[in-house]
Amino acid sequence: MHDLHRHAEVNTAERPRVAIVGAGPAGTYAADLLLRDDPLVEVDLYERFPAPFGLVRYGVAPDHPRIKRITSTLHAVMDNPRIRLRGNVEVGRDVHVADLLHAYAAVVIATGADKDLDLGIPGEGLADSHGASSFVAWYDGHPDTEVDWDLSARATAVIGAGNVALDVARVLARPIDDMRTTDIPRHVEEALEASCVRDVHLFARRGPADARFSPNELRELGEVTDVDLVVDPRDLVLDDHGERMIRQFAQRRIIVETLREWADRAPAIPTAARRVHLHFHQRPVRLVGTTSVQAIDVERTRPTELGRVEGTGEITRYPVQAVYRAIGYRSTPVPGVPFDQERHTIPHVRGRVSDHAGGGTVPRLYTTGWIKRGPIGLIGSTKSDAAETVSALLSDCRDSAGAWMDPRSGMDHIPGATIADWEGWLRLDAAEQAGGARRGRERTKVADWTGMLSLTT
Ligand SMILES: Cc1cc2nc3c(=O)[nH]c(=O)nc-3n(C[C@H](O)[C@H](O)[C@H](O)COP(=O)(O)OP(=O)(O)OC[C@H]3O[C@@H](n4cnc5c(N)ncnc54)[C@H](O)[C@@H]3O)c2cc1C
Ligand SMILES: NC(=O)c1ccc[n+]([C@@H]2O[C@H](COP(=O)([O-])OP(=O)(O)OC[C@H]3O[C@@H](n4cnc5c(N)ncnc54)[C@H](OP(=O)(O)O)[C@@H]3O)[C@@H](O)[C@H]2O)c1
Repeated sequence: MHDLHRHAEVNTAERPRVAIVGAGPAGTYAADLLLRDDPLVEVDLYERFPAPFGLVRYGVAPDHPRIKRITSTLHAVMDNPRIRLRGNVEVGRDVHVADLLHAYAAVVIATGADKDLDLGIPGEGLADSHGASSFVAWYDGHPDTEVDWDLSARATAVIGAGNVALDVARVLARPIDDMRTTDIPRHVEEALEASCVRDVHLFARRGPADARFSPNELRELGEVTDVDLVVDPRDLVLDDHGERMIRQFAQRRIIVETLREWADRAPAIPTAARRVHLHFHQRPVRLVGTTSVQAIDVERTRPTELGRVEGTGEITRYPVQAVYRAIGYRSTPVPGVPFDQERHTIPHVRGRVSDHAGGGTVPRLYTTGWIKRGPIGLIGSTKSDAAETVSALLSDCRDSAGAWMDPRSGMDHIPGATIADWEGWLRLDAAEQAGGARRGRERTKVADWTGMLSLTT
């Protein structure tokens, strides 16, 4: 039950205000489109961290500065008096969705995805078996992660053939000198400098024509200095399905061609300081060890029809001392909002949240981004997704003349919460840039709650 006393905080002015929960790309693009499409509406952007930008800040790899700069676009959207950033407020904990629905003309859930999918194989719970999301959060200076990260493993496995797997493999293999100009916090730089990693084994359960890498991200791995890429040409033999895929999709053809180039040029004796081995048709079956990981057993697969695979029973053991699962993210339910436990998404009809019980949709409740359609797609795709949601919202909440039918205008205070607002973010942003300038780089992230809150609240 939500507290009725909070309703006393409702702002009674006539301007309609929409609450958007999550200041990642999806929430920010939704705010932008709302403001562009309606001259009156204002937006309160709720965010659980004192800093906005979601996975652009806490997911995109630090050695991708060009993509990190998308934060400038998102920053420009938020730097608008019709948008109030309400950072350091976790919806579901600090304020209930029911309170927001009471106070606002509409509520949009854009809380993204922050957890890892599990493999469900024996040994997954051993020490040194990590979800990629934890490692990514650590190197990106996320305030919920520990400062220390054990990089004493000489050989490491990365499971998955998506771009997150490539990010993890690349950051593990990349020489620290190539990372020094990025926004990584000092403790991350020190740990990567002392890293013992020599061999990174990336395992894809399907063939190379079914890898989900982006061609550019894959090629980038080939450009990392002092790293040998090791690909077994036998893994690159395509079946009929694979041949069809590379004929049909240019991206897949480029991926296979890139891998073939690497397989051809592999030196008989690797000479670089580190190696990344890319294995295809290998699926993990168990992690071996008593308390910590000592090896991974993988089973060779063979293609079936339609690009799926089945096990052949041929098991190979690779001695590795750490394993990173990069097999996909999943969303966390928001209390009070319907959630599909199998798909890990909010059920919806073109962005309108479905009401399981009644079979219709929940009035004035919407969703967008990864929690709406699952953890797939680049930052740009959250924009078209937000467009669908905003269009549904505006057509439901306004009459045919464009007037808001129930223009509720939000909450000014959240009892018990200390809001990190836009001015607070500007102070944190300036402090991070100043910290970066002192070290000859664009920014150095503040990576702890105390430091972030002392600047933002
Ligand atoms: C490791 C990784 C690297 C990536 N790299 C790239 C890349 O290089 N290029 C690219 O185009 N795409 C990249 N992507 C994809 C991109 O990050 C996503 O497409 C995009 O971030 C999804 O946006 P979103 O707003 O739905 O979710 P998110 O970015 O996750 O934003 C959701 C926001 O909601 C907030 N939130 C969550 N729960 C609550 C709550 N209860 N109350 C208040 N706030 C809450 C979160 O803190 C977060 O700020 C990457 C993804 C990952 C996982
Ligand atoms: N630089 C960038 O542009 C960038 C960086 C990071 C992320 N992203 C984007 O963010 C999204 C998410 O990326 P992602 O890498 O997390 O997901 P993804 O692209 O869905 O890749 C997940 C990988 O894990 C594999 N997998 C899933 N379950 C498995 C299991 N049980 N055992 C073994 N392998 C398994 C999948 O194999 P199958 O194909 O066989 O299912 C797939 O290869 C993508 O759209 C991605 O492009 C972009």
